[in-house]
Amino acid sequence: MKNKLYFKLKNKKVQEEAFSAICEEQKHIGYYALPEQDISPILSYAQTIPEHIESIAIIGIGGSSLGAKAIYEFIKPTKNLKRKLYFFESTDPLNITTLLSKINLEHTHFLVISKSGTTVETFSIYKYIYSLQNSPKSYTFITDPNSPLEKYAQDIGATVLHLPDNVGGRFSVLSTVGLVPLALSGVDIQSLLNGASTIKKSFFGAGHMKDTLLKKAVFYARHHEQYRINCIFAYSETLKYFCEWYVQLWGESLGKRQRHSAFNVGLTPIGLIGPKDQHSFLQLLIDGTRNKSVTFIKIEDFQDDIIIPDISLKHLESLNNLNNLPFSKLINMQCDSVIEALIEEDIPLDSITISNVNEDNIGALIYYYEILTSLVGELIDVNTYDQPGVEEGKIILKKKLSS
Ligand code: PA5
Repeated sequence: MKNKLYFKLKNKKVQEEAFSAICEEQKHIGYYALPEQDISPILSYAQTIPEHIESIAIIGIGGSSLGAKAIYEFIKPTKNLKRKLYFFESTDPLNITTLLSKINLEHTHFLVISKSGTTVETFSIYKYIYSLQNSPKSYTFITDPNSPLEKYAQDIGATVLHLPDNVGGRFSVLSTVGLVPLALSGVDIQSLLNGASTIKKSFFGAGHMKDTLLKKAVFYARHHEQYRINCIFAYSETLKYFCEWYVQLWGESLGKRQRHSAFNVGLTPIGLIGPKDQHSFLQLLIDGTRNKSVTFIKIEDFQDDIIIPDISLKHLESLNNLNNLPFSKLINMQCDSVIEALIEEDIPLDSITISNVNEDNIGALIYYYEILTSLVGELIDVNTYDQPGVEEGKIILKKKLSS
């Protein structure tokens, strides 16, 4: 993975302070250690799911579903996966009914994923599905040890898997939460962790990622009042759900009241997909209020060599220069053109280039963004790992439900 920054920052002292804080944090925040975990228990568990199971349905929301979905949707177009994943994340009745119409209950295994084990969305959907399929064999529950969900699952005699210690929901994609569904679908989970490990080693081992991530984090923190909106502009449809995952990670981690002040701060994430969003959001980037930074994500090799045929269309001869051009080249030319336009306008940006669509690369991208989020959280003085605002909404809903 190559990351080119188009902005300069010299403040070494702040960078080194943030680095020390993250090294310290690594001792008690669980996600940092995930790249080195032993995946054999997950692979053994995957062997217990019978061959006739063709679909895996995830019942979970937020950190309990977005990560697996981001990786699955990224890998799916280039790999012949063993099983399909379906995500029951919404209480939208039309969505539940539509998803149910796509699966055969007898050939589906359900993963009910909830760290707290009490989330309303997850359990309203679970209750509905349980009324249609009540065999404990059809369910696996993933939750924190001793949660109410663990107790329930043990009572009905279903399999329970745990989250590792101190791994928060939105940082849990490389734990059982993401790895179990992905392993069942046939994604190479060891390669995901290898990709994450490359970033980890480069960052903590003083490789180029240390310099890059620190510079980028200090830039975001220093300018968080001016450049308060941070866009990812990904030039591939495969990264659509990665953008959703990023929106949750960035928004829920960084939108907080500061630890040592009375002020509320936050950075606003936006996920854009190119070239589609060139024809909508780009105008706002170029001519709108100068409060946005942009990270472009490009894929070097799409492993697909379809080309634009050599056809001349009457009255449209001016478009003949498209003939014989591979689509993979066109999309990257589009991205480069937008980068140039934004440089002209002095908009702060960087570009990440990944070699191709595979597990290593998405694992690296995920871990890169997790470390970046931790660094920015440290620098803007918030608790990156709690979510009091989300909890507030959950408490009010529970009150409404019991009145
Ligand atoms: O990141 C978070 O902590 C949240 O988005 C949670 O993942 C989300 O609220 C779902 O919670 P739970 O996994 O406890 O059901």
